[in-house]
Amino acid sequence: MTISTPLCARVSLFDMYEAAVQSPSVDVDAIVRICDEELAMTPQSLKEDFSGTGYISATFLEQFPNAIAVGLDLDEVSMKHGRRKHFQANSQLDSRMTFVKQDVLNPSTKAMPVDRFSVIFGGNYSFFVFKKRTMLLDYFKTARSMLDETGSVFILEVMGGPNCQIIAEDEPRGCEVDGVDFDFIWRQSNYNPVTNELMAHIDFEFPDGSSISPAFSYDWRFWSVPEIREAMEEAGFSRTVVYWASLYEEFEDGLTADHYSRTTDGRGIDQAEAWLAYVVGVVEPTP
Ligand SMILES: C[S@@+](CC[C@H](N)C(=O)[O-])C[C@H]1O[C@@H](n2cnc3c(N)ncnc32)[C@H](O)[C@@H]1O
Repeated sequence: MTISTPLCARVSLFDMYEAAVQSPSVDVDAIVRICDEELAMTPQSLKEDFSGTGYISATFLEQFPNAIAVGLDLDEVSMKHGRRKHFQANSQLDSRMTFVKQDVLNPSTKAMPVDRFSVIFGGNYSFFVFKKRTMLLDYFKTARSMLDETGSVFILEVMGGPNCQIIAEDEPRGCEVDGVDFDFIWRQSNYNPVTNELMAHIDFEFPDGSSISPAFSYDWRFWSVPEIREAMEEAGFSRTVVYWASLYEEFEDGLTADHYSRTTDGRGIDQAEAWLAYVVGVVEPTP
C-alpha cells in the first residue's frame, strides 16, 4: 500500500501565500501612478519593506530594466525562497535585487547598493505590527531618512472599514499552485475595540480534506488614515495624500490601480464595509 502525500504538504507555504493574497502588478501600477501623479517622477530604486519573497520587487524590476530594488525582512527563509523563485533564473533581475535580513526599524545601508531610494513601499498592512505610536513614528522617521531628496515617496498599503473590526471568517476563495487546488480563508479571531487590535489568520484547505490552519497569523493594531498621515507629517514628509478604493464584491479578483481615487480630504469617496488605501508620504524635491 502506498501512502500518498496530503495535498497540503505538496506546495510551498510561500507560494500559496503569494497566490492567495498578493497582486504585485496592482502594487507596481500603483507605485508608477503615484510617482507620476505626485512628482512626475520615474522610479529608479525601490526599498520593499516587509518584503517576504520580494514578489513586488521582482515585478518592479521587470518593468524598470535600469532600476534596483532592496527587500528588507526579518525572515531569511522567505527571502531565500523568493531569491530562488523570482530572481535566480533571470540574471537581469538577480543582479539588481538585494535582500537584507534586517528590522525595518533599524536598517543599515552597508549591505545596500544605495542609501537613498525613489520609493519605499510597505505592502499588505505589514506595519500594523507596530502597536505603539513611538514605534510607528520611529519607522516613519527611518523611512524619511532613506528617501531621495530629489523627489520620492513612502507608500503604505492600509486596510480598514467595519468588516475588519469584527470576529468573522470570509467565504473561501479558490486558488491554485502547481496544479494543486486549494481554498484560502481569511479568519478574524479577535478584535479589541479598546486597543484597536486585531488577531487574524490565513487558513488553507484542500480537496483531500487536509488543511493548514493557521498557515499565517497576524497580531495587529489598526492605524487610522489620519493617524498615519499625522505621524508622516511629524516624521518630516512635505505632504501626504491618499489613494482610496472601497472594496466591492465585483473587485474581488479585478481590483486595479485605476480603481483607487486620489484624495487629500476624503470628500466624495464612497464608504464600503471594507476598503483599501495607499497612504503616501511625499518628499518634494529640494530647490
Ligand atoms: C504580511 S507579510 C508581508 C509579505 C509581503 N511583502 C506582502 O506584501 O504580502 C509580513 C512580513 O513582515 C516581516 N516583518 C515583520 N516585522 C518586521 C520588521 N520589524 N522588520 C522587517 N520585517 C518584518 C515578516 O517576517 C513577514 O515576512
